[in-house]
Amino acid sequence: MDSSETSAAEKRPTYDRVDVSVLVVGAGAAGARTAIELAERGVDDVLVLGKRSHGDAHTTWARGGINGALGTRDPEDSWEIHAADTLNEGHFINDPEKVETVTKQMPARLRELDEWGMDFSRTEDGDIDQRYFGAQSFRRTAFAGDHTGESMLRTLVDRAQDLEIPYRENVMITKLLSDGDQTYGAVGFDMDSGDPILFNTDTVVLAAGGYAALYNRHTSRDDENNGDGPALAYDAGAELMDMEFVQFHPTGMAVDESDPEWEPWSGRLVTEAVRGEGGRLYNADGERFMERYSPDQMELDARDVVARAIAKEVAEGRGTDNGGVYLDLSHRDRSFIRERLPRMYERFQDLGVDMATEAVEVAPTSHYGMGGVVVDDYGETRVDGLFAIGETMAGVHGANRLGGNSLAETVAYGVVAGERIAPRVDGPGDVPETVVESVAEPHFTDLTAMADHDGDHDVTEVFGEIQNLMWEHAGILRDEESLQTGLDRLGDLREQASDMNVGSMTSESFEFAVDVGFMLPIAEAVLRGALQRTESRGAHYRRDHTKKDTDWQQNIYVERADVGGMTSHTEPVASPSPAVQDALDEGHELDYHQLE
Ligand code: FUM
Repeated sequence: MDSSETSAAEKRPTYDRVDVSVLVVGAGAAGARTAIELAERGVDDVLVLGKRSHGDAHTTWARGGINGALGTRDPEDSWEIHAADTLNEGHFINDPEKVETVTKQMPARLRELDEWGMDFSRTEDGDIDQRYFGAQSFRRTAFAGDHTGESMLRTLVDRAQDLEIPYRENVMITKLLSDGDQTYGAVGFDMDSGDPILFNTDTVVLAAGGYAALYNRHTSRDDENNGDGPALAYDAGAELMDMEFVQFHPTGMAVDESDPEWEPWSGRLVTEAVRGEGGRLYNADGERFMERYSPDQMELDARDVVARAIAKEVAEGRGTDNGGVYLDLSHRDRSFIRERLPRMYERFQDLGVDMATEAVEVAPTSHYGMGGVVVDDYGETRVDGLFAIGETMAGVHGANRLGGNSLAETVAYGVVAGERIAPRVDGPGDVPETVVESVAEPHFTDLTAMADHDGDHDVTEVFGEIQNLMWEHAGILRDEESLQTGLDRLGDLREQASDMNVGSMTSESFEFAVDVGFMLPIAEAVLRGALQRTESRGAHYRRDHTKKDTDWQQNIYVERADVGGMTSHTEPVASPSPAVQDALDEGHELDYHQLE
């Protein structure tokens, strides 16, 4: 080796290499269910990666329930009506085939979770109970008190452990290895040791959540749902779709942010199940204002309708001092509240509020990104071997998601992705040396350079500024001027992000710095989509285009442009199947007044 070869070799970064047949990125319900499906089909060389300990994923924060047309309480329910409700509330820009994939499977998926030991709440007869949730024609939301996600994830993790599926915790994936057509693996680092890792595989399943935490008031934890999943796929050559549709859950906690005891709870979820069990909304004048906005469906109208109604009440001066409205369940017995909503009851009790005698304060909060990665009906992107499922994918929810459909989507798509992948598996991948040298190693060098960088801009400030910008410029109400200003401000933040003050690779600031890199393109995609869509539909409300426009019954697709930057195009949406169209024509609707 001559001296120039030696110095070239010295410059090559060092890293661990892991060979595996299928890499699942994300240890929540979608990732766990995929791995279970693979294991049950005889694929044992699977590795599930999580940014935290297994059993601790965003799924645990999903509370009120999971939808499936079991017909426990309302035997006339069917998967076709579930699909019709999903399309109706998605304002017909959902992909009808994906909606069918979820709704058809759900009764079986619920029974399976039950067999695996999930502690569903039961009727007097011992059947899986089902409650009302917003904008659903029948009681279709199965639940475990108000800790459905937690209970479901525990069940799935137990099942995965019985099947001896390996998990690796505290690993952050920072880039996928792809040439735009084919997947070769992923790279990232061990968050405990800071060691870089290359995962060599030709199948990656991104089950890494969505982008709701791009907003400063949100229901997620700060270090999740800030766009990692969609950003990784976009960077690898996949398309994104419908990014402008962000769900603002009507009832996040509205608190006195100057009070240190309450401040950490700002925006946290007050489950829709509170309204599903009869909760009523009042403004500060004591008026049950939903009578003006939605006299038939009242508090259980679709989330976008209720969220905008609350925002309007507050904007017009009828809100509480903490910028919210009141949610009251005190007409129900204490024992009923404790049984149906134990976590909510305990949380407020700890904070000195007794739900059995007093109302709680709530205001809209960012909860879910309906958009995401474009996939086929098995969850595969246009990059061979790259799958995106759960909240990372687009297509099921259209312009507005029904509560209870996100947990449903995780398990339904976990199964179909597993079905598609299993017969293809023939050993670990074979990442080409050219990809290692031209993609993986330069990326490791960039990561190392970012660590301990003494830049001019504080990473948490840049992170927070992106979230403030999104709330101000792409929030519940949008218009052209504000969206354009948001895009301009994002350009400034992109410059700041290139010179941030960052700690070591095991520090929280390093994780946030990586997150900022994910947030920037995803924020841009949301702002651009919202600007392009000159109508109001579901969760996307334009003050300057207040009506739904039939010409806009289209999806907006976003991809990387050949010369950098972002490009988009639109495509019309497919029609529902005759069976679902019949259910739509029958015109089922929730009869809210049964709750009174
Ligand atoms: O309000 C809730 O419990 C949320 C459920 C969901 O978004 O599916």
